[in-house]
Amino acid sequence: MDRPSPDPDTGLRFRIDADHVGWVTFDLPGSSVNLLTPELLRELDILLSELESRIANGQLLALVLHSGKEGTFIAGVDVEAIAALPGAAEARAASAEGQRVFRRIERLRVPTIAAIDGVCMGGGTELALHCDHRIVSDRDSTRIGLPEVRLGILPGFGGTVRLPALVGIQNALGMIVTGRAARPARARRIGLADRVVPAGRFHDETARFVHDVVAGHIDRAAPRLRFAQRLLERTAPGRRLLFRTARQRATAESKGFYPAPLKAIDVIATSIGRRPDDAYELEAEALGTLAATDESRSLVRVFRLSQQARRALSPEVLAERRPVGRMAVIGAGVMGGAIAELAAANDLPVVLKDIDQDALDSGLRHAAELLRKASAAGVFGEAEAGLKFALITGALDYEEFGEVDLVVEAVVERLPVKQQVMREARSAAPGAVLASNTSALSVDAIADGVDRPDTVLGLHFFNPVHKMPLVEVVRGPRTSNRSLATGFRLALDLGKTPVLVADRPGFLVNRLLGPYLDEAGRLVEAGAPVAVIDGALEAFGMPMGPLRLLDEIGFDVAGHASREMAAALGDRFGSATVVERMLEDGRLGKKNGRGFYRYEGGRSRDVDPTVAQLFRVTDEPVPGDDIRHRCLFRMVNEAAYAIEEEVIGGPDDVDLALVLGIGFPPFRGGLLRWADSIGIDTIHSALTAYAAAHGDRFAPAPLLARMAAHNQMFTDST
Ligand code: NAI
Repeated sequence: MDRPSPDPDTGLRFRIDADHVGWVTFDLPGSSVNLLTPELLRELDILLSELESRIANGQLLALVLHSGKEGTFIAGVDVEAIAALPGAAEARAASAEGQRVFRRIERLRVPTIAAIDGVCMGGGTELALHCDHRIVSDRDSTRIGLPEVRLGILPGFGGTVRLPALVGIQNALGMIVTGRAARPARARRIGLADRVVPAGRFHDETARFVHDVVAGHIDRAAPRLRFAQRLLERTAPGRRLLFRTARQRATAESKGFYPAPLKAIDVIATSIGRRPDDAYELEAEALGTLAATDESRSLVRVFRLSQQARRALSPEVLAERRPVGRMAVIGAGVMGGAIAELAAANDLPVVLKDIDQDALDSGLRHAAELLRKASAAGVFGEAEAGLKFALITGALDYEEFGEVDLVVEAVVERLPVKQQVMREARSAAPGAVLASNTSALSVDAIADGVDRPDTVLGLHFFNPVHKMPLVEVVRGPRTSNRSLATGFRLALDLGKTPVLVADRPGFLVNRLLGPYLDEAGRLVEAGAPVAVIDGALEAFGMPMGPLRLLDEIGFDVAGHASREMAAALGDRFGSATVVERMLEDGRLGKKNGRGFYRYEGGRSRDVDPTVAQLFRVTDEPVPGDDIRHRCLFRMVNEAAYAIEEEVIGGPDDVDLALVLGIGFPPFRGGLLRWADSIGIDTIHSALTAYAAAHGDRFAPAPLLARMAAHNQMFTDST
């Protein structure tokens, strides 16, 4: 009884089996995942009318909603549809429409079952929440979540109403306010899943479950609350305490920059005990308000940019890549050990080579520790962590390099050493693509002396590797498409977001960090207190102030990088003397426990008061805006140079790379989106004034001057 849907583009299908069970299949054509598009919602609405009449005629005993895609149920609402909503009223209407359709499912007079085998997010989860039952597979990738706050909104298709009713307030807050998804075991524990079954037998188990439901052997799920939770959730004072705690935590975590988590808490708190109609209305209203905020627009933009970045290479170029079934990392230091762990965590066999046994041991220990932490955090099981660690082979020679498809070198930042290592890697693995993790050297210079320099590219990972989502994929002038595609695809397979950059000093992120950190140093020289400088940029939303960041990077490394960039790019770089003064005073930063801050057992404490003796500290207050503008406008100016030199594809890449590479506040949409919000003309005038007051390092870049003259912006407004 298979029949195509009226509009084949949405991939919605329906059939009734011999047992009078209806199966609704989601299978969006041309996409690896299912998305909830407005068109799909419309078709579902039409299908529901048919289902209602079939049920009235006694043709259906139960209804199953499932996916035709491997590994996904529904990955969420199409973010393009969210981005296209012009304002609060339209967002509110879209929410109300989704609620209306889903509530029709809730009202069907036969049992409804969501069969979830894989990723189930956002609107997909809300759809499942409007079913009577949820059967879930134990597949590795299965996650059920409501990540809407990460886009600056809240679940708008009934999630804030249905989830607390199903799993209790505390569990629901835990998912909605943080956006954290539940794995199958947790879903079962909190009552979100009625049953968790082996992925290999998912279809049969679903059929059996449906049979049991129809036979009346399965009750509707009720929240599984422990005694203490019941006490909190079922009394008014208990609930007050619960919401107060949730608000405190959300305020601390969002630092006041993100309105969505608090709004979600308010919506849930207010809707408890209300009639469902009112609760749904409250949710739609709140969604409308949030969707129209700058924060949400910025977060949606960053999300879309990261999706776009994954498609930066055409399918034709990607098809040229060498598939990587085994890789090698040379240099088992801070970066090498962590890159080896990343490969193993993603099930890729890896050889980790060093020249020093102690260094190798420490790299392997570092990798093991990271795997242990990932397993403690529930990313994978303990036994699995052991299996993954077994994928790493430690080596002091090149014997194991024969089968290797790609090599990443992460040895000390010295050109002759890197060239030598590349030559050795070439003879040990003649067919392999060779990648350098250099931060500041030229990839092309590293490729010199290697035969087939077309096989060399840069893969610049960020520290700490397991946390930082960005990889700069560096194309040297001689790098072939094949090598580029191999490195780009590897970055994706390791779960990172690749951004293509040209082989210019500092690539993109370190180049933009240069003037920003330099200016913070200048402010120290001018007498501004450390805490005031860092505080000004933390208040802007930076994850840490620039001086704390310098401590993390280390003054030796920062000094080296700024000298390299100054030599190549000119006087705009590296003119502050702070770094040298800190080094003269024996300060390397966090690594030797002596920087702008004091450290105890590797943890940072307060500002080191003895730093003040090295510099003149004035009592004159320095306005926070002045600090922010001096540091950040120099970064904007440098971005204009980088764009003009075609270091990256354009302003979108700058914005994405800084959010993912240094944690530039995503709620601001990226550096250049923020610059546009201030106005290029304003920034140009400020730079001109700063140049007159403080020196040429502020002189506006030619591109910025042209943009100001023609009233142009870096980014478009969508
Ligand atoms: P590190 O000093 O911690 O480790 C370097 C390792 O290379 C040491 O274990 C050393 O024994 C080994 N080594 C030296 N010569 C070797 C050779 N000929 N063959 C094999 N191994 C050799 O250095 P780190 O911090 O891990 O940096 C490595 C590379 O990554 C550098 O190019 C650096 O610029 C880059 N990088 C560093 C970042 C950081 O934050 N540490 C961030 C991004 C890139």
